[in-house]
Formats: sequence, structure tokens, C-alpha cells
Amino acid sequence: MSEPRKILVTSALPYANGSIHLGHMLEYIQTDMWVRFQKHRGNQCIYVCADDAHGSAIMLRAEKEGITPEQLIANVQAEHSADFAEFLVDFDNFHSTHSEENRELSSQIYLKLRDAGHIAQRSITQYFDPEKKMFLADRFIKGTCPKCGTEDQYGDNCEKCGATYAPTDLKDPKSAISGATPVLKDSQHFFFKLPDFQEMLQAWTRSGTLQDAVANKIAEWLDAGLQQWDISRDAPYFGFEIPGEPGKYFYVWLDAPIGYMASFKNLCARRPDLDFDAFWAKDSTAELYHFIGKDIVNFHALFWPAMLEGAGLRKPTGINVHGYLTVNGQKMSKSRGTFVKARTYLDHLSPEYLRYYYAAKLGRGVDDLDLNLEDFVQKVNSDLVGKVVNIASRCAGFIQKGNAGVLVAGNAAPELTDAFLAAAPSIADAYEARDFARAMREIMGLADRANAWIADKAPWSLNKQEGKHDEVQAICALGINLFRQLVIFLKPVLPLLAADAEAFLNVAPLTWNDHATLLSNHQLNEFKPLMTRIDPVKVQAMTDASKEDLTASATDTGETAPAGNGELVKEPLSPEIEFDAFAAVDLRVALILKAEHVEGADKLLRLTLDIGDEQRNVFSGIKSAYPDPSKLNGRLTMMIANLKPRKMKFGISEGMVMAAGPGGEEIYLLSPDSGAKPGQRIK
Ligand code: 2FM
Ligand code: ZN
Repeated sequence: MSEPRKILVTSALPYANGSIHLGHMLEYIQTDMWVRFQKHRGNQCIYVCADDAHGSAIMLRAEKEGITPEQLIANVQAEHSADFAEFLVDFDNFHSTHSEENRELSSQIYLKLRDAGHIAQRSITQYFDPEKKMFLADRFIKGTCPKCGTEDQYGDNCEKCGATYAPTDLKDPKSAISGATPVLKDSQHFFFKLPDFQEMLQAWTRSGTLQDAVANKIAEWLDAGLQQWDISRDAPYFGFEIPGEPGKYFYVWLDAPIGYMASFKNLCARRPDLDFDAFWAKDSTAELYHFIGKDIVNFHALFWPAMLEGAGLRKPTGINVHGYLTVNGQKMSKSRGTFVKARTYLDHLSPEYLRYYYAAKLGRGVDDLDLNLEDFVQKVNSDLVGKVVNIASRCAGFIQKGNAGVLVAGNAAPELTDAFLAAAPSIADAYEARDFARAMREIMGLADRANAWIADKAPWSLNKQEGKHDEVQAICALGINLFRQLVIFLKPVLPLLAADAEAFLNVAPLTWNDHATLLSNHQLNEFKPLMTRIDPVKVQAMTDASKEDLTASATDTGETAPAGNGELVKEPLSPEIEFDAFAAVDLRVALILKAEHVEGADKLLRLTLDIGDEQRNVFSGIKSAYPDPSKLNGRLTMMIANLKPRKMKFGISEGMVMAAGPGGEEIYLLSPDSGAKPGQRIK
């Protein structure tokens, strides 16, 4: 046997100002499954995380709620910890970046970098809110897009035309915090001299530490040349003051990754078997992996290894990057009920359903993963309930009744147990490579073989025949043994199912190596149903409740949801109109016969509409919300049928369909209840 590996693993630290949602859970479940696999195999694997507690967003949020940032982050930490625990994400430690360990480590690392000449200082000019007396980050400045003239755009890019610019280019800038007109002001900032590490990064990012797609992206940045990184912020700021620089704070992203170390250090204080330096010193032989999403690759694959190198510490063994979560093929959306908080999911469904579904779809690449809710129900029911658990429920009764719950000795199908044994190394390799989808496919292939064998032997028929007792017991004993093997292979994904199976099997907690043995002459415990089918009604209840979350948080200014991810945009009401003006609008039910892309148009779809006795050609700016227009074919919607035809670049538009939402991907075509007929007038 080889020596157990020493492995330290992290997931990205969630911001301490918002709830965990199913998009976050993809990463924590992915990491947890990998960590559980390593522990299952007998390696020393430590999984740490923390809340990312610093920054102006958290400071402002606390202020808005009338509490201190410390209170806010304590409340959120309690919520996050409970969500993770119920999703069976088993951190060895879940700490906070607002901790003494992190303050010390951040200071030490900064001072090492400074003393080695990797810190520069210079004055920069930025917008300053004269009322709030604070410098404004780009996202706290709003104004009119210098390119297309759209109002109310953020300080660095326009949501309407996609232009990127400096906040100082915005017309009529306003502070998004106080509404005041910002003024330009100078202040001294501290910079990490990232270009000092260009060569090291060139080598390190090509040394097997990154997936190829990520390494290629990074190569583009490296080729473009690295810039110094601004690591300081002026007071008021919620964070750590920079040693020796009163009024200057570390930017949240400086101390966030150091939070990984701090969480581990905090754990070391209560785990005498762990030695901090053995994991972090330059000559450490331990492995270190960070699991992250593709949006934060620059921080982890450039800034972080450079900081570690500059401070004389070891660098990560690997950065494991995953894609984003989509739900039903689209970005998570609050109004569609697909922006599902971890808690809302847990209120309706078992965590293991989602863990399995994610595993079944997670490869080792950076592609986005789609949680298709219909497929979710179908896959979990068919694989876990219909295949895996089914084996135990088909066999257990005959053993309880026919042999007092004792598994007989022997092996009724050595060719099958040999196949299970032979599959183990490949399943282990797939887990190791984070190719959970392949591992699940191979495991379900084995489950299919076991079920087919049992169906072929049909112990339920034999049991009705005289003199077949021993044969029935031999078949069912092997069935239970094959079930046990499958549970061993699935344990990193389904720890609760594994615990329940261990109770039924009357065995100590199963480890990977147990797959090489069979139970014989072994007393089982009473069989209880191990998993129930997902009822689609519960999935519906979850999405309905997520829509209610939206109403409850309509005034919520939290910044957890990435921009454009379903945030409510409030539009002022238009001036009142007389009834006659309304009655003059001819609103009709329209059937979308065909929806298609328009060559050369970024935003438009061409809709062919049936309004009873005629067809209309309408161009509609809904392309970003419906990237696959064929999905609209056959759908009913509503249209303004008497709008004067409009000549457009691509042809004549004969009316307008009705949709709600702020724009971009957040556009929702209105539909009448089913039963409405094309051409019917809407009154
Ligand atoms: O993007 C985020 O949600 C950050 N809070 C992740 C931090 S990861 C690490 F570097 F701390
Ligand atoms: Zn614009």
C-alpha cells in the first residue's frame, strides 16, 4: 500500500451578505464529493472554507439593516453553516475572513511582499461621494452611457449596448449610494507588482495546475502583459487596516484567499495532528487544491500564486475550475422561480437528489451545467430509486422471511462480482479526475447488470416453487452484496443513503477497499425503504416558493445575485390615460407559428404570428431572452394588432408582441391562459 496522501482542499469563500443558492451549491457539492472520495480511499484530506466577510458591499448592507458589519456577518455565517450542513457538505472547518488568524496572516504576507520590493505606492484619482465621504467603486456609480445615451448605467459598462468605459466617461454621474454627484479626488494607493511574477506564472500555469481551457485563457492575459494590482482601499471600509498605513485597508480580494490559510490555521489549533507549516511552507509535500468558478480565475491563477511565491510560501497543486449553473437551459431567474436558495430547496427536497444529479452531469471541464428540472426528476427516480435501491428492495424480503435476515455464504454469479471488481479502478480514476459523470455512468452500468441478472433469475418466481429455497437465498444474498458494492462506489455522492444502507447491512462505515470483499453468513437488520421517488409536485412547490422569495426580497439590496441574474428593476408608472386611449389599442391573442433568428440583427427575432384570419410578420427585440427561438414555436402570446406597420432594416414589422422585464435575458413574453384562441380580442 502506498502512503496516504496529505491533501488540503478549499471551495471559494461565499460573500457574507447573501444567501447560498443552487448555483453556489454546485461548487460545494462538487468539492465535497471529491473530498469524501479522498477520505473514503484512506487519504488525509482536509476541507476548509470560510465566509468572505470584508468589503464595502457588506459595510453598506449592514448600515442599511441598522446593524454592525460584525452582527451581519455572524448572522449570515449561521445561515450559511446550516445550509451547507444540510446539503451534507462536510467542511473540516468553516471560518471567517474577519478573524484574528486572517488578520495576522494577511499582515505577514503583505509585509513579506513589501520587504521583498513587490509593493508600489502611487496616487490615483477616483470618484468620491461628498455626502457619504467615501470613494466609490465602479458599481456604486451610475450615469448615462457615453456611447448609446442609455440612462442609469453602472460605472464600468452599459447593459444596453455592452460598451465598457471608465466611470469618468459616464455622463451625469451619480453616487448609487447617496444620489450625490461625485467629485474627483486623489488618494494614495498600494499596488502589488504582479509583473514581477510574469515568468513564474508562465511556467506555473503550464505545469499541469490548470485545465487546458483555463490555461489557454490565462495565456492570453499573460501575453497581453500583466498590470500592477491595486490592493488598498480608503476608509471607511470593512476590512483590515494595512500595517503602518492608518486609514488604508486591504482590498477584500487581498485577504480573501489568505482566508483559506486562516481557516486551516484555526483548525490546526484544535487538531494537534495537523501541522500548519507542513501544508503551507515552501517545501511542503502536501497537495493543495482550490475549487472555484470560472469568474474568479484571475484571482486564483495569477494573483494568488504570485502572492504565495512572493511571500516565500508554497503554491497550489491545482486550481479546479467549473462552469456556471443554468436552470432549464437559462440563467437562473428569480421571476421564473429558478433562482432557488439552498434553504428553499431543502424545504421541499432531499439534498441527495441534487447531489446525485450534479454528479451525473459534472465532467472535469469548465462547461456550464444545466439543471433541467424535468430531467432531474426523471434521472434521480430512474437511477437511484429504479436501479440502485431497487436491488435491495427486491432481495431483502426473501432473506428476512426465508432465512431470518441472514445472508448465506457463497457467490451465485462470480462473473458478475468479477465485473464489479474489475470496474473499481476505472470508477476511482474518474472520481480522482473529477469526472463524476463518468463515475456515475459506470456505476449505473453495473446497477443495470445487477438488475438484469436478478430479473433473469426471478427469485420471486422460484420462491413459489418447491425445493428452491437455497437457490432463492443464494440469488438474494448476491443481490444484497452487489447493492453493497454500489453503495461503496456511490458513498462520496450519497453519504446519507450510505449511512442508511450501513444500518440495514449491519456493518461498520464502509470504505472504498471494502468493495473487494463480500458479506457471507451475515446477519442483516430490518430493511426500511432507503429512498423515495421525487414527486414533481414538490419541484413545482419549490419553484413557486422561489417566486415568493422574490416578492419577499423585492426591497433587498443584497449583491449576492450576479447582475442580470433576476434582480428586480423598478420602473416608474407612466402618466394616467383616458379609457378611450386604452380602448383604441387592439390587443389580440397571437399564436407564434415560427420564431427565427434575423441575419445581422443582434437583438431581434422574426416572429410569424397567426391572429385568426391573418398572419403577421413581427420583429421583436427578445433574442437574448430566447437564444433558441424554436422553443417559442407553437406558443400563444399577446400582440398589439393595430400598431402602424414600421419599416425596419430587415423588413416591415406589423405589430408588437407583449413582454415584461428590464431587458437583456430578463424578458418574459406574456401568454394567455390555455384555451385562448388566436385572434381573440383581449379586453
Ligand atoms: O466571488 C466570490 O464569491 C468571492 N467571495 C470568492 C472568494 S474566494 C477566495 F479567494 F477567497
Ligand atoms: Zn450604452
